[in-house]
Amino acid sequence: MGNPLFRKKSISDLLDGKQPKEDALKKEMGAFDLTMLGIGAIIGTGIFVLTGTGALTAGPALILSFVIAGLACLFAALAYAEFASTVPVSGSVYTYTYTTLGEFMAFIIGWDLVLEYLLAVSAVSVGWSGYFQSLLGGFGLHIPAALTSAPGTIEGATTYFNLPAFLIVMIIAFLLSVGIKQSKRANNIMVIIKVAVVLLFIAVAVGYVKPGNWAPFMPFGFDGVFAAAALVFFAFIGFDAIASAAEETKNPKRDLPIGILSSLFICTLLYVIVSAIMTGVVPYQRFEGVAHPISLPLQAAGQDWAAGVIDLGAIIGMTTVMLVMLYGQTRVIFSMSRDGLMPPILSEIHKKYHTPYKATWFFGLVAALMGALIPLDELAKLVNIGTLSAFILISIAVIVLRVKQPDLKRAFRCPAVPLIPGLAILFCGFLILQLGASTWIRFGIWLAIGVVIYFLYSQKGSKLNK
Ligand code: ALA
Repeated sequence: MGNPLFRKKSISDLLDGKQPKEDALKKEMGAFDLTMLGIGAIIGTGIFVLTGTGALTAGPALILSFVIAGLACLFAALAYAEFASTVPVSGSVYTYTYTTLGEFMAFIIGWDLVLEYLLAVSAVSVGWSGYFQSLLGGFGLHIPAALTSAPGTIEGATTYFNLPAFLIVMIIAFLLSVGIKQSKRANNIMVIIKVAVVLLFIAVAVGYVKPGNWAPFMPFGFDGVFAAAALVFFAFIGFDAIASAAEETKNPKRDLPIGILSSLFICTLLYVIVSAIMTGVVPYQRFEGVAHPISLPLQAAGQDWAAGVIDLGAIIGMTTVMLVMLYGQTRVIFSMSRDGLMPPILSEIHKKYHTPYKATWFFGLVAALMGALIPLDELAKLVNIGTLSAFILISIAVIVLRVKQPDLKRAFRCPAVPLIPGLAILFCGFLILQLGASTWIRFGIWLAIGVVIYFLYSQKGSKLNK
């Protein structure tokens, strides 16, 4: 027997469906559902909240930051789509890595995805809470100050716990634990509302653009543009969660690539237009300390009705993001547990609802607590570094698989390999460099914990060991 670090699952076994029947998830999703799942995951706190910080960091050149971050995602998405269409089983990039780079790398990437999805749920819950409180405020209702935010986030105020953030994640965990069907339908409706709200912003605000606000276009030079790109990268995260729904997709070879590419394209277009308009309506300095940067330009233009509608749409939009992220998170854990790399309790499926309900509740609770206790920026940067690392690994895996298994049938082929995956590695690596030392260190600690778990538990527990 070879080195256990490099033992691999066989792709043909996976495709032949040699997974035990009782472990199987229901197949319910099509290309349209996946696109909706993608948009549901993508448009959220990134555009509704982090664009404010982005505008302060880059000025009107935030548009360029979105283009750079979007390009990084496009290259990574093409690599992702090739894998998604070749190895359509639950667990997304984790499973793909298991078939190509071996068990150790697969564990590391799964562990990395756990961080990404888990903290993304937490980060978005913080953004959700901000808009929710602003909406409540519109009706004259206020939550006690101590329960509005994580400790140390508001200057001059004592805060302990972000209660709305905590509660919304628990509600999401409930929805997911009672089944994908209900969650999917709710997601589709909410995505339509969210896109409509973004279109409303564009339609109303475009009339108030003063081109003078776009000058100077790049007040902080390329440094500002790149730093903002590393932050607003968060706005694109989510299309990869589509790949983790592979096992529940009716025709994954065709539907997954369509879902990933179309949702990414639609969102990039919307972001570029939105950031151009928001920095065109008010000078970028106005976004200092603003928790609702998308409704601000409309308030400034005297369009309060539209601003209110947008607040509501943002709340709905961010709800769908949390749904998809927690969904993706539990599916990765489900796969790792089914493979013996994580405790078996995490892949127990509910008899009636067919969901990994124990994993859903456990990680829902963890995400809810992190959102209640940690500030948004810190969460977002960790999510970004986790995701960028995953994109780099998957791009390497695409190149490796082309060399090692050139004849493998791929429903979708990434164009210009190794150029495109190479560009993904380059862009993502560059964005990681912009994130700063404290984020690198925290991420390093997380990975170190993972390595310890792998050698103490997973290597022995692995089903490939038996
Ligand atoms: N892209 C998602 C958001 O912006 C994570 O909320």
